[in-house]
Amino acid sequence: AMASVAKGKRAAAFKAIDDHIKDGDRIGIGSGSTIVFAVERLAERVKNEKLSVRCVPTSFQAKELIISNGLVLSNLETDHVLDIAIDGADEVDKDLNLIKGGGGCQTQEKIVAFAAKKFIVIADDSKKSEYLGEKWKTGLPIEVLQIAHKVVKAKIESSLEGTADLRIAQKKAGPVVTDNGNLILDWKFDAARDKDWSQVNGLLKAIPGVVETGLFVGMTSCVYFGSPNGEILTIN
Ligand code: A5P
Repeated sequence: AMASVAKGKRAAAFKAIDDHIKDGDRIGIGSGSTIVFAVERLAERVKNEKLSVRCVPTSFQAKELIISNGLVLSNLETDHVLDIAIDGADEVDKDLNLIKGGGGCQTQEKIVAFAAKKFIVIADDSKKSEYLGEKWKTGLPIEVLQIAHKVVKAKIESSLEGTADLRIAQKKAGPVVTDNGNLILDWKFDAARDKDWSQVNGLLKAIPGVVETGLFVGMTSCVYFGSPNGEILTIN
């Protein structure tokens, strides 16, 4: 039997695809474990309903997923305007701001979400929180150029708060290297209700060497949360 968290992810993913995808769509495909169910459902609908859609990946993983499900692979040069992007998230606050990048793909994910007319988030309901950092404890992922990692770390720790730790690979000696050849700092901040995340994002992005952060502020059109029993909560 499917684990209950996976059941929630699957329910949210299927409903999002069924509610939003139509013939002719150019679709941004996110990364992580939840998007796998969405692509499964998308491939089913494309086959059954003979839909013609094109898919733009947000990562190496997403590209492989699109190819292995027999979907049409596109890119942001062929399709720089997308009808929709669908992706998971690590945490979703009450204003639908997100932390993303647990899988290290936040830069491409954010560009693809930005290019889309609507951005739909799918997640199991354990990702739902009041404020960012309430539940997600491993920090905000920040992609940095390799040469800048110590400079950026020092600046964050001196002018913001908390610690910014270089993400270390599990099955390789040394750091995680992103799909773009960069490194990741996981910034552990003091979680608080009243943070201005748009301002924090701006401060981080103003540091030379920062490529992108995993903060998605004001980008989300709609979130589908799936519960372990398969019920779905939709928030716009
Ligand atoms: C990838 O870098 C992340 O932003 C993912 O979108 C996020 O981690 C969601 O992944 P799951 O669907 O596995 O929770």
